[in-house]
Amino acid sequence: MAASQTPETQIAELRQQVAHHAYRYYALDDPEIPDKAYDQLFRQLQSLELANPHLITPDSPTQRIGTAPLDEFDQVEHGVPMLSLRDAMNEEEAMSFVDTVAKELGLPEESLELSGEPKYDGLAIGARYTRGVLVSAVTRGDGFVGEDVTAQVKTIRNIPLRLPEPIDLEVRGEVVMFKRDFDIVNALQEASGEKKFVNPRNAASGSIRQLDPRVTATRRLTFMAYGAVSPDGSTPLGASTQVELIEGLRRLRFTISPIATKVTGKAGIRALFAQIGAGRADLPFEIDGVVFKLNDFAAQARLGWNNRTPRFAIAYKYPAEEKTTTVNQIVVQIGRTGACTPVAKVEPVFVGGVTVSSITLHNLDQIRLKDIRVGDSVVVRRAGDVIPEIVRTVTELRQIDAVAFEMPTSCPVCASPIHQAEGAADHYCTGNLKCPDQRLYRLAHFASRLAMNIDGLGEQTVKALLDSELVTMPSDFFCLDAASVSRLPGFAEVSASNLVSAIGSSVAPELHRFIFALGIEDVGEKTSKDLATVFGSWKEFRNATPEALGRVHGIGPVTVQSVIDFFADPVLGQEADKLAVIVMPREAKKASGGALTGLSLVLTGTLPTMSREQAQAMIEAAGGKVSGSVSKKTHAVVAGEAAGSKLEKATALGVAIWDEARLIAECKAGTA
Ligand code: IVH
Repeated sequence: MAASQTPETQIAELRQQVAHHAYRYYALDDPEIPDKAYDQLFRQLQSLELANPHLITPDSPTQRIGTAPLDEFDQVEHGVPMLSLRDAMNEEEAMSFVDTVAKELGLPEESLELSGEPKYDGLAIGARYTRGVLVSAVTRGDGFVGEDVTAQVKTIRNIPLRLPEPIDLEVRGEVVMFKRDFDIVNALQEASGEKKFVNPRNAASGSIRQLDPRVTATRRLTFMAYGAVSPDGSTPLGASTQVELIEGLRRLRFTISPIATKVTGKAGIRALFAQIGAGRADLPFEIDGVVFKLNDFAAQARLGWNNRTPRFAIAYKYPAEEKTTTVNQIVVQIGRTGACTPVAKVEPVFVGGVTVSSITLHNLDQIRLKDIRVGDSVVVRRAGDVIPEIVRTVTELRQIDAVAFEMPTSCPVCASPIHQAEGAADHYCTGNLKCPDQRLYRLAHFASRLAMNIDGLGEQTVKALLDSELVTMPSDFFCLDAASVSRLPGFAEVSASNLVSAIGSSVAPELHRFIFALGIEDVGEKTSKDLATVFGSWKEFRNATPEALGRVHGIGPVTVQSVIDFFADPVLGQEADKLAVIVMPREAKKASGGALTGLSLVLTGTLPTMSREQAQAMIEAAGGKVSGSVSKKTHAVVAGEAAGSKLEKATALGVAIWDEARLIAECKAGTA
């Protein structure tokens, strides 16, 4: 480099060189220079910037190493929502998608042009560029509001920090971890005594949702782009088709999968799906299907959107992977309410991207139905996030010494008798809080996110607290002091005082959270909310008669009995009262006076202007309830486009049928 150059020009030149070689290496996997030479350029840039800190800009390649940790992620609203795709789980569903699209467009299916792209298995991100510079990156979140992960995303080596053109654009895509990087990252995790990731998707998502960007920087992530939106609503990159858009993104130096391509009609979809499926295992990243999008943007616009999914695209998923393994043992686990769950311990098997060694069998009936015996060969299935299951027993391979499972008569943890209620499928340990496992799960449930939401008080910590006898009941959490907690394994002064203050700030919870936290049998999150809205205060709920409980919409005699039994239990009832005094749950707004008070409605089909969530919120605001199925008790079915069996059932039962306009009118009736 010429000595006459100013630091400014030197830095600018080096940045360009580093960015170019990083692109060759990380995006194209085709480096032009040896790694050593690249490192040298990088370090030269680093030291020049160190000497001239005022010249450091956010788009410098040196800024990928990660900044200081954040306290929390900021919430960011998406200018254009980031919604999801409809799934086709088999060929029939995929073909019916084509038929619908062809019909709507009035075209023969053989002439439909679609883009076919891998369905990357990672975390969706929108990366916003202003005048060509990466200014922010946001996770999908609930589609409308996501989390600001700019600092984390900037550490991804193949995401451009600056585009070749000074344009405003939001590029959307998936952050993934390549299979080879996953192996490396896991080896590093293991070497440093950290927990290994179960699969590349979890690793990618965990690494982005990591408050310390310097950690993200070590995780070898890759950004695969699949779309873009313009902030001003114009067509991104002037493209008129998806394939053009993808090409445009490639020109902007985003990494695009080489298997993204254009296909025609059903035959094209079938062929590409089969072709990608055949090569799936050899792809550098994991996919769980192929996304087909109508190629022409004008045609896309004609089809438009359903509720939350485009009608012009489909995610055609590969079937869940299945493997055969052997059942070594069937053990019984005791849950929070004492429910006994048989769990098959199988010979570890790698299926659907994770190693499976334990599979829940739900209850005795399930085991009988599938005729699963210890020693049997079984077919195991797992897809994506779904928990693994035993599909069937390979009875042809059964050995004569295979042993049928019997539910034990006493609890394997506390030896209390196991009881099966008349007509019920489940068995229960009668040990209640005497059973160490029930106690552990009850206490952990109390602190859990949807209950008291106490940060840092997970199952492991609860176990440590129980083992050290610092707590035996939930109310004991509130007597903990930082000094005793700091003596627990894995705790230090700061983490102990954090825990104690998290417990302290959990007081005055919303009433429904407190009810849910108690862990009353059959009283889940939704029922807790219903109870809280109807009774309004802890006192009223606590003193409710069985009749009053029974009048609450959606609560049947079984739940009523569970509530009564819970308060009648000397230990649980007393503990609940003690807790109520300590935490003082807030009063809930009582539902009353709304036009739909006490009425149950069912939603079906797509409403012309409202999303399902909006309609539900409107009904609930008017005091009504939304139920999932139609019965004689249903007040009305609100039906939109493409309403199905619920509408038929409503007609058969003579239940009133409303359209969106009628719903709005009825909801307003009470407020007029
Ligand atoms: S297009 C309206 N293309 O799948 C949504 N999505 O269920 C447009 N995904 O959240 C998304 N690969 O995270 C699109 N080639 C691809 C994709 C893809 C993976 C993910 C994405 C999205 C989810 C939709």
